[in-house]
Amino acid sequence: MKKIIYPKIGGVDSIEIVEGDDPTASEGEVVVRIHRAGINFADLMMRQGLYGSNPDFPFTPGYEASGVVSEIGEGVSGLKEGDRVLAMTGFGGYSEKVSIDASRVFKLPDSVTFDQAAAIPVTYGTAYHMLFHLGRIRPGDTVLVHHAAGGVGTAVAQLCKVAGASLIIGTASSTKREFVESIGVKFVDREKEDFVQVCKDLTGGQGVHHSIDPVGGKNLLRSYKATRKGGKVYFFGASSAVKGDSRSWITALKMWFNTPKLDPIKMMSSNKALFGVHMGLLDDPSIFKGHLEALSKLLEEGDIDPIIDSVWAFERVADAQMHMHERKNRGKILLDFSP
Ligand SMILES: NC(=O)c1ccc[n+]([C@@H]2O[C@H](COP(=O)([O-])OP(=O)(O)OC[C@H]3O[C@@H](n4cnc5c(N)ncnc54)[C@H](OP(=O)(O)O)[C@@H]3O)[C@@H](O)[C@H]2O)c1
Repeated sequence: MKKIIYPKIGGVDSIEIVEGDDPTASEGEVVVRIHRAGINFADLMMRQGLYGSNPDFPFTPGYEASGVVSEIGEGVSGLKEGDRVLAMTGFGGYSEKVSIDASRVFKLPDSVTFDQAAAIPVTYGTAYHMLFHLGRIRPGDTVLVHHAAGGVGTAVAQLCKVAGASLIIGTASSTKREFVESIGVKFVDREKEDFVQVCKDLTGGQGVHHSIDPVGGKNLLRSYKATRKGGKVYFFGASSAVKGDSRSWITALKMWFNTPKLDPIKMMSSNKALFGVHMGLLDDPSIFKGHLEALSKLLEEGDIDPIIDSVWAFERVADAQMHMHERKNRGKILLDFSP
């Protein structure tokens, strides 16, 4: 079977496709024949050695995949060969086949496609965790989200609607105005407009209830300023550490130094909260499982539906990741591993 590996830190040209042994299912595991794997911004950062919580090189990235169970290990119940499933691979999803603990595999309802299944967990799981689990979003709340056209951004927009948010303000590159507006988000050009001012202007000077910041660096302080008293800021990414497809230490260090060290006393006086969010490092798996169950219900009821930017043959993984580096995606990018 074929799998994609990151042999060492590098640009997209460092990615290799190799032949590996077919995995077998040990006790408690199943083997999944993968059809689709999700690409996440984190995969790009891992390749550049900027992530921190990935396995040692060489390794196969890929947090999430959908496919068909092809082998069942001893002691596994509730799954059988031929079941269509979502596999929360953690790592290793960029592969034709994967062996995985059965507790990380979820049977798909007939109505859910492989594309939908591979597009939902990381993006919607993260958005759901912030807005519903941590943020307790309420009808009428106002929300600021960055990278509004991306995987998490579009998930945030759909979940805000589910929650009855009154206003979603989203920053993105200028080419995405029409798309961002089409998903019901007030577009702010990330290069030309001052999102803090827009947030204040549209909320009677108060700022938004929730600021969703995967950018870091100076942007985080601005997101904090765009948030009203009593509001919540979610810091869950550091896209400003990345410049192009190869690592730039200067850019990464700039992000690090410019990320604000907020004063808890000032936070107390303004009743503002800052959450740090890393879904890959949640210590209680039942939390994420609960999110998946809630999202599955929303999907079945038609309240959410992931926007797929593109599906790439896995052999074109470098082009697919370059598409994200070039900020071209509108929604989720998937890799096609189907037989
Ligand atoms: N902490 C967690 O658990 C967690 C989970 C999921 C995602 N995240 C974070 O959420 C963010 C979005 O992730 P995603 O997978 O959904 O990606 P995405 O938003 O689908 O795609 C990346 C988008 O980010 C923007 N961007 C900003 N800086 C960029 C850069 N240096 N290079 C390329 N694109 C850049 C671009 O949109 P514009 O130019 O239009 O802004 C690009 O289209 C990332 O920062 C990611 O690390 C964190």
